[in-house]
Amino acid sequence: MSTKLFRQFIVFCLYLTFSITCYSQALPHQAKAMSQGNITCSSSTCHGSVTPWNNTNVLQNEYTTWKTYDKHSQAYKVLFNKQSQQIAKNLGLGQPAHESALCLNCHSHNPDPQLRAERFSHTDGVGCEGCHGPAEKWISSHTVKGVSHADNVANGLYPTTNPAALAKLCNSCHVGDESRFVTHRIMGAGHPRMSIEINTFTKIEPPHYKVDSDYLARKGAEQPVKLWAVGQATTAKSLVDLLADAKRNHDGIFPELVAFDCHACHHPMSNKRWTPRNGMPPGVIRLNDSSLLMLSAIVKVIDPMSLSQYNRLYEQLNRATFQKSTKLESTEDLQETAKKFAKYIEQLIVKLQTSSYDEAKIRDIFLALVQGQQYYDYASAEQAYMALTSVANIVVTNGSSSIRPNIKASIEQLRKELSNEDKFQYQNFNKEYGKLVQILQLNNGVK
Ligand code: HEC
Ligand code: HEC
Ligand code: HEC
Ligand code: HEC
Repeated sequence: MSTKLFRQFIVFCLYLTFSITCYSQALPHQAKAMSQGNITCSSSTCHGSVTPWNNTNVLQNEYTTWKTYDKHSQAYKVLFNKQSQQIAKNLGLGQPAHESALCLNCHSHNPDPQLRAERFSHTDGVGCEGCHGPAEKWISSHTVKGVSHADNVANGLYPTTNPAALAKLCNSCHVGDESRFVTHRIMGAGHPRMSIEINTFTKIEPPHYKVDSDYLARKGAEQPVKLWAVGQATTAKSLVDLLADAKRNHDGIFPELVAFDCHACHHPMSNKRWTPRNGMPPGVIRLNDSSLLMLSAIVKVIDPMSLSQYNRLYEQLNRATFQKSTKLESTEDLQETAKKFAKYIEQLIVKLQTSSYDEAKIRDIFLALVQGQQYYDYASAEQAYMALTSVANIVVTNGSSSIRPNIKASIEQLRKELSNEDKFQYQNFNKEYGKLVQILQLNNGVK
């Protein structure tokens, strides 16, 4: 190996190690350090300024932004509203929602009592440490000159700049994991359905940081498509982890119902809409495979070598949901297939993290999302829409100016088709989707 190649190899290994270490870093609610409380971050000379500062590398008004605009600051408060009271009553919790760990674990940063410093209060909702990690070991050092982001991470700051670590963090509340989870029972009691797309959701959040030249120098560029791709893989992993985990089956004969398409059960019988797909016969419950569908477009472009493995696992997983009692060709049951799938996705995440997403690849992902694809259920149509807005921006900006307005109009129409979940008609959605493909095919610059 030449010296240059060897050097590149070492850099790659270091990056890989950093990525993997970041992904495996304990989530803020599982970390074994003391949480200090928002109050330690919020003074006006720290992160509580009313207006951004100009002469420092962070804005210093993060607390004000969070408190005023960010829904996470309201997360604890909503546990007092009528909807929460009803949920607690319907579930027979025997205590109010705002006192129940079941709710507090996601609606606030809720560490063990022995891990709370004197001024910590969980009533702040999802506060700074709920995302950035307990501050015990980095609070005093993180403002010292010369201390880098990597130093802070080594001291326990959660690595929110790492796409896989970020996706794991957001998903741990917005999809749920083994330690906090919204079951079908909790939804039946009145909790909203949950869905997330990491790139879109990080953009919806009122930003309390600014990606300027100084940020880029310290943390590197954000890559929306990478974040989207890694986010989809992480959500897909949450699904297969759920299917593999017998402890999360609360409702008897099925695996936990939230793993399935809600409208597979919740739709009027007069609305006949079965179509042959994924080898699924009529009258069976379909998985909520929205993230898996997105993942298939991603695998096609970023890791084509593993596409046949992906397709095999996808088919096995679907079959295993309804053929549990009969013998599968491979004699594997749902949990085993889900575990295998989880291993595959773990390796894929490492590849997605280390891949580059140049213009050609982004265009190919966009085409994989639209060409020959049909979305039959609300959850996958919703993901397809969010994918388009994450990926299309780049394609639209670089496409010929004549098609830009048409693509934008088409995406806006798709958004309208999604405005009411109960009235969603997949035929209309797919018709509009077909138009998008036509626009692209007419445009030589994109196709
Ligand atoms: C796994 C994490 C998790 C658990 C457990 C959880 N929630 Fe939530 N909850 C969320 C998230 C995330 C949202 C926001 C969903 C969205 O808007 O996409 C939410 C939204 C809500 C809303 C709607 C808020 C609004 O602004 O309209 C209510 C009410 C609510 N939860 C009450 C509860 C109650 C009561 C419990 C306990 C029985 C509970 N939640 C348990 C994560 C959780
Ligand atoms: C819902 C999760 C979440 C919460 C809650 C949250 N942050 Fe952040 N924060 C992020 C993300 C994501 C980023 C961007 C990635 C990065 O720079 O690490 C970020 C970035 C930052 C930065 C880095 C800015 C830079 O230029 O490097 C600071 C400082 C910060 N947050 C402070 C705070 C403070 C103070 C609070 C509490 C008032 C808070 N955050 C609450 C998720 C969160
Ligand atoms: C500790 C749990 C937790 C974590 C971690 C978390 N969230 Fe949330 N998030 C919530 C809850 C609970 C709500 C609902 C709050 C409410 O409605 O008042 C919410 C609301 C939101 C909303 C507003 C949704 C809406 O319908 O308006 C966005 C956007 C969001 N979160 C994005 C993120 C992102 C991005 C991350 C990761 C950087 C993240 N969240 C991490 C618990 C969490
Ligand atoms: C396997 C079929 C099935 C799936 C899949 C399913 N549900 Fe249900 N759901 C039911 C049944 C059965 C009930 C109980 C109906 C009753 O009590 O009349 C129910 C009840 C509910 C209720 C309470 C309705 C009421 O009348 O009070 C809500 C809300 C709900 N489900 C939401 C969801 C959401 C959200 C999803 C997807 C994440 C989902 N369900 C997936 C079968 C399903």
